[in-house]
Amino acid sequence: METQRLLPGFCSASQIQSIQNPNRTLLPTLPSSHPPPLSLRIPTPKEVSFKTIYYPKLRCRNGLRKAESLIGNGEGLQTGIRRKNLAVFVSGGGSNFRSVHEATLAGAVHGDIVVLVTNKPGCGGAVYARDKGIPVILFPKIKDQPDSLLADDLVSTLRTYNIDFILLAGFLKLIPVELVQAYPRSIINIHPSLLPAFGGKGYYGMKVHKAVIASGASRYSGPTIHYVDEQYDTGRILAQRVVPVHANDTAEELAARVLQKEHQLYVEVAAALCEERIAWRKDGVPLIQSKDNPNHYS
Ligand code: GAR
Repeated sequence: METQRLLPGFCSASQIQSIQNPNRTLLPTLPSSHPPPLSLRIPTPKEVSFKTIYYPKLRCRNGLRKAESLIGNGEGLQTGIRRKNLAVFVSGGGSNFRSVHEATLAGAVHGDIVVLVTNKPGCGGAVYARDKGIPVILFPKIKDQPDSLLADDLVSTLRTYNIDFILLAGFLKLIPVELVQAYPRSIINIHPSLLPAFGGKGYYGMKVHKAVIASGASRYSGPTIHYVDEQYDTGRILAQRVVPVHANDTAEELAARVLQKEHQLYVEVAAALCEERIAWRKDGVPLIQSKDNPNHYS
């Protein structure tokens, strides 16, 4: 797993520690008077695990803001940050994939898409990848496709690419447990509704927008980017954006409005991942540190 920072929520500034991958030299930033962490497990190169001391009685109203003063400023955090290797998974047209890929080429995302994984070898995303010289892997095992991979082989193959983060962009197969366990806190998915509404098995693509309109209950919709666990659309939410649902919207009109926001949001989140601007609140909620204002988390 790539570098993670832990931001214990709602505690006093003196209890904050920022832990970076020991391979990258940054160690917990603690005031000299602060006791050491209760435990700091020695990580493997791909895994960092840590616990923090937490004093519930010392909660403060603006703990997050105070906390950031000990984490450091954004410029400092970004100095010398390694470019990340990204794998993108698609099943369809791949417009989100293209959006992130263009952002990597333009320098807006500090990473490179080094491999594409798909279950549909002829889909638009796969065609685009081949055109751009990005290797395409077939997963899961497809009959009559000897090159397609089983879950364990997929994990081994991604290891050979030194993948830091996996971005699901319209990939419609369930991610196998082997992959979830191999890449903790490193796989994200984009979904075209405001989760937890209109998510779960069977909710994908246009079906989501049709359900939003048919429900009559939503005046707003929009994309969600969340971490991936072993089920559909249930992992921790990292970012959302809102678009209006108009009274006379068709599913296609709503889809187009949401997709436009998806493209922006995926680039923003990919940039934050690659620049190591994700902080984890004590209760396990991931937050994004603003690039422009490092004292702001959302
Ligand atoms: C996107 O709208 C994405 O949110 C959705 O598939 C579309 C893929 O479009 N994903 C899901 O519904 C996952 N449950 P794209 O191939 O043009 O990026």
